[in-house]
Amino acid sequence: MKDKLIIFDTTLRDGEQSPGASMTRDEKVRIAKTLELMHVDVIEAGFPIASPGDFEAVQAVASAVKDSTVCGLARTSDADIDRAAEALKPANSGRIHTFIATSPIHMQQKLRMSPEQVLEQAVRAVKRARNYTDDVEFSPEDAGRSEIDFLCQIIESVIDAGANTINIPDTVGYNVPTQFAETIRNLKERVPNADKAVFSVHCHNDLGLAVANSLAAVMAGARQVECTINGLGERAGNASLEEVVMAVRTRQDIFPCDTTLDTTHIMNNSRLVANITGFPVQPNKAIVGANAFAHESGIHQDGVIKSRETYEIMRAEDVGWQTNRLVMGKHSGRNAFRTRLKELGYEFASEEELNECFRRFKDLADKKHEIFDEDLQSLVSDGLLEAEQEEFKFISMKIALETGEVPSAEIALSVKGVEKTGVAEGDGPVDAVFSAIESLVESGCKIQLYSVNAITDGSDAQGEVTVRLSKDGRVVNGTGSDTDVIAASAKAYVNAVNRVMSPVQRAHPQI
Ligand code: KIV
Ligand code: ZN
Repeated sequence: MKDKLIIFDTTLRDGEQSPGASMTRDEKVRIAKTLELMHVDVIEAGFPIASPGDFEAVQAVASAVKDSTVCGLARTSDADIDRAAEALKPANSGRIHTFIATSPIHMQQKLRMSPEQVLEQAVRAVKRARNYTDDVEFSPEDAGRSEIDFLCQIIESVIDAGANTINIPDTVGYNVPTQFAETIRNLKERVPNADKAVFSVHCHNDLGLAVANSLAAVMAGARQVECTINGLGERAGNASLEEVVMAVRTRQDIFPCDTTLDTTHIMNNSRLVANITGFPVQPNKAIVGANAFAHESGIHQDGVIKSRETYEIMRAEDVGWQTNRLVMGKHSGRNAFRTRLKELGYEFASEEELNECFRRFKDLADKKHEIFDEDLQSLVSDGLLEAEQEEFKFISMKIALETGEVPSAEIALSVKGVEKTGVAEGDGPVDAVFSAIESLVESGCKIQLYSVNAITDGSDAQGEVTVRLSKDGRVVNGTGSDTDVIAASAKAYVNAVNRVMSPVQRAHPQI
């Protein structure tokens, strides 16, 4: 019997710390439910003390999820621990994850605390958390740059205090695989009560080594990996869940452990997270990128046709790529639509929501012959985003574009239910559209990012646009999709403006 490798997903907490990726409570619940469907062991739902929105989100995830453990993050203060415990009350199985920095630079410069004070506070926090739950995780933040003797000392003390998971974060992504593995090996050998806790790792990707470091740590005895869907996370992100899980699954000849994940849900999770956060997946991303299983060169194609194993180490369908990707068309009915979306992890909250999304589906089917899962997912995400309390709604647009002439755009928006028209010129059609929208919404936002992605293949593919806007220190991503990329751009801009102005609480757990 192999050991179990525990998968701890932190998309909803560390992933959300990516610029503009903050999520509403309902978005978090939707992602949590699809993670549960995939049998993720632990879902870190947020940082309850960070904001009322994050508290409510953790509480809602704790109520909605039945099979996975739901975790809340807390610093070592009493208030943090109590707030996390309160948010986790509805959980079938709840974990408090408490952390304090242990590297010399963090202790001296950030905390201004001595190692003795840090140790004392860590022990107090773990004991307090144990009053609420038997499942307590402790992280010495910036362990990757901490002194090994101090790490051993603090880990021994927090295990004695009741921590049963010890997570070793490479907070700044500074480690390399051999060294990180050595740290885990050392800790497991030197900490006298190490056998009383599961060792976990949490790697950031600043040097592109998050997955490699996590896997090296697993080889050295770690039995929990903290990761995120699509590798989302602070700065360059966290270790990507799909890469860690598929590396371990594919190389069972060398790994002494395996996960219990149902990997066929990976693609659904990946698309859902990309849609909700506005962080599209790069085409050459391992496992979930559009090209991950595409063979371009003739030699490769010939090899795969003769014997798939010549160039494929995994089966695309094992991670949820559909072989028969055409799912629906113009004549598909409401029931088929609802059923397929249920299979993709979407449940409609009401008949009205279903009807509205079905109407969008029919509109799209008029423009696009073949409708794929990706189209459905983006269509539903757009629909649900609109269901938020939106001040501005895109109605229509007219573009004047001629070689040698300055492009201009006329935009019709519904502004609090009243139709208004704005006109503007710009450097290009997208610039003109954004200026025309701005003339109506007067958001004063700054554009931080604009990106276009084709959702599927073919020249009739929908373009999916992400617009990142910032205002008064708040950063949001808006997304929009349409067979016309200029219309998709307009929708994305309007969506981002709505999010900036929305009264709906978006969790924002920057620590
Ligand atoms: O990167 C980090 O150190 C963290 C901790 C809170 C675990 O995210
Ligand atoms: Zn982190």
